[in-house]
Order: sequence, then structure tokens, then C-alpha cells
Amino acid sequence: AHYWMHGHRPAEPVEFDERFGGWNVTGYAEAQQVLADPQTFNSDTSRFFPSYGDTDDKTIRLLTSDNLLTMDGVAHRDRRRLVSKVFTPKIVADMEPRIAELVHEIVDGLTGKPEFDFVTEVAYPLPVSVIAEMLGVPSSDRDLFVYWADRLFESKTIFYDTEPGQDAMAASQAAIRDFEPMIGYLAEHAAERRQRPRQDLLSMLVESDLSDDEVISFAILLLVAGHVTTTLLLGSTIMCLDRHRDAAAAVRADRTLVPAAIEETLRLISPVPMLARGTTVDTEIGGRPVPAEQLVMVAIGAVNRDPRQFPNPDEFDLTRDPNPHVGFGRGVHFCLGAPLARLETRVAMNVLLDRLGDLRTDPANPPVFHPSIEMGGARHLPVKQL
Ligand code: HEM
Repeated sequence: AHYWMHGHRPAEPVEFDERFGGWNVTGYAEAQQVLADPQTFNSDTSRFFPSYGDTDDKTIRLLTSDNLLTMDGVAHRDRRRLVSKVFTPKIVADMEPRIAELVHEIVDGLTGKPEFDFVTEVAYPLPVSVIAEMLGVPSSDRDLFVYWADRLFESKTIFYDTEPGQDAMAASQAAIRDFEPMIGYLAEHAAERRQRPRQDLLSMLVESDLSDDEVISFAILLLVAGHVTTTLLLGSTIMCLDRHRDAAAAVRADRTLVPAAIEETLRLISPVPMLARGTTVDTEIGGRPVPAEQLVMVAIGAVNRDPRQFPNPDEFDLTRDPNPHVGFGRGVHFCLGAPLARLETRVAMNVLLDRLGDLRTDPANPPVFHPSIEMGGARHLPVKQL
């Protein structure tokens, strides 16, 4: 697990970290400075991933220069404008009844189960089914999406090794190759929609001004970014309410507090614990000189607990208002899926509170955390229904 997730703060808000040869930014103001200046701190960090190597490789390109998350400047602005025309707040809001239906189906399967793994049974099937249905790909393929997403995250672990050995490099490249069939899978579905459009997001993307590769790149992003993170948020919300009993009672008594509980969870257990940026010129962060071509990691989990910004930062406080956490990022790359993630979590929490008893963790059977350093939250969360 990550040191900043347990409330340990480094002495300085900006520090060089020998372990990966880059900078950790843990202060709130300093993080704001980095995220507000994408020219100085850019998002295409592929130059720091040795295993990505040859960028002519189409798969690598889809993960780097051709991917909204890692694009910069005008190219990012234009792409974001195009996809935002299709992936709109209205499309998301219209999903609410269907999301509720899916949660009810999931909860139907839990009746008479006093103990279950919350992640396997609830947190994992919901977001992947929602995004698959929106895109129009069979949600029965969800195990495939999860496998591909896992391999994608694995492909990047190498970069945290200080001196990556050949074995780690080979493993990373193998992970990228394992992920590759996802591109063919989506290309097939997209080609089919071009022939016969349906009422789904993939058809709308195909009919928009995006090129075929751009459609695939965005669909991958939706399928990968759109499910792992929300799965983690759902599990973390349960963990927070398990740990903070007063808040749990308050939320059960007054459902208007559900959104506040979700925001506090996003602040305290960020599904995305860090954001990577690269310096394009010699610069400074919070007055500390940082040379060009350095990797800068914004440690969201630590930033969200900066006592200069959040009084009593380790408290789960339902009255925290405003709550300007950076769990969904900040600036030009602000999470495009934030409305969907918030909607899914709110609907799910309300149905769970309506239909199930208190969900408590079992100290004898603790949660298993996600293995990727890039993901914060539980991979398995055994709970008991009280
Ligand atoms: C970007 C977090 C759910 C789609 C981001 C960023 C963060 C984030 C921190 C900014 C990355 C950066 O600045 O480098 C989360 C969290 C989620 C979540 C915590 C759930 C709790 C979703 C969902 C979708 C989604 C459900 C779509 C279905 C995206 C996209 C971007 C993005 C497309 C890229 C935006 C851009 O680069 O312009 N997300 N996300 N996310 N997210 Fe999410």
C-alpha cells in the first residue's frame, strides 16, 4: 500500500523520490500549480516508460499519444471537445433508471447471503455492466474487459523499479501484448456499427467526427478508466462507512447525506492515488527548482489530506462543505466520467441502504487491496450483513 494513504506526510510538499527518480507532490497548493499548468507539466509521460519503447507501435500509440488522458495542448483540447459531444451529461443522467435496475438485480442475488465479497458481488459487476451497456458491447464479456484492464495496469509497474531489469521489461511488454486483443475486439464492434448503427454510444462515436482509431482509443479509455475506478470507489465507500460508525448511522437516517459520504470517500481513499506529469522546461514547484524532463507524481491521496486545505484531514466529515478534493483530478484533464461515477455510486448506495442490512467488514477476513500502485481501494472486500 502507499505511504500517503495511511496519513503519513513527508516533511516537504515537494520532494525528490529516489525510488523512482522523480518528484512527489503532496501539498494541495503545489498540486494545484502543477495541474493548472499543462504546458509546463505535460501528460504524455511515455518518455519515462522504458518498456513502451518504439512509439511506432500502434498499440503503444493508442496508450500514449493517441489517448485523451495522455494527450496535450491543442490535440487534447480538440479531441476532448469531440468526445464530449457524444459522452454528454444527458446521456449519463438518462442511465439512472437502468443503473437502479442493475443494482436491484445484483441485490436480488444477495438475499439470504449473510456473508459475501462486496467487490466480487456488487462493486465489480455494476460499473463494468453499465459502461458495456452504454457502449453497446455485450456485458457478458466483462471478464475479458477486467482481464485487459489488469494487464494494462501491469504493463506500467516497471516504471516504479529504480533500475528496471530485463525480466521486468519483458514482463511489461508481455502485458502490453496481452492487452492487444482488446483493440481488435473493439474494432470489430465499431466496424459492425458502421454497417448497422444501433442506439448505443459506440454507434454515436462511429457517426461522429472521430476517426476509426480515435473511436477505438476512446472506447478503450471508457472501458478501462470507467470501471476499475468506480469499482474501487464503491468498495471504499463501504469501507469508510464501516470505519466511521456515526457517519454510517447518519447516512442511513438521512439519504441526502449519501453524496457527502461519496465525496469524503473520494477524498480519503482516492481510487486514482496519483497522477503522472512530466516537466517540459526547467521550472519550480512551490518555490523548489525542478529541472526539465523530470517525472512529477501528484500524490492525490496526500494532497487530499493536506491540513493546510482540509481541517482535521483524517476525519470522515459529512459536513465538509466545500470539499475541493482532487479525486477526479483538476484542470484540462478533469475526469470526464465524474458524473457517471457519482451517479452509479449514489444509486447503488441508496438501493443497498434500502434493501440490505449494515455491511460490516470482518477483522478476521480483511480486505485485499488492489495490487497496482496506480489504483487505490479493495480488490476483495469480505462483508457481513447485520
Ligand atoms: C480522467 C478519476 C471514473 C473517464 C480522470 C482523472 C482522474 C480520474 C483523477 C484525471 C487524470 C489526469 O489528470 O491525468 C476517476 C475516478 C473515477 C473515475 C476516481 C471513479 C470514481 C470514470 C468513469 C469514466 C471516466 C466512470 C467514464 C466512463 C475518464 C476520462 C478521463 C478521465 C475519459 C480523461 C479526461 C481527459 O484527459 O481529458 N479520471 N475517474 N472516469 N476519466 Fe475518470
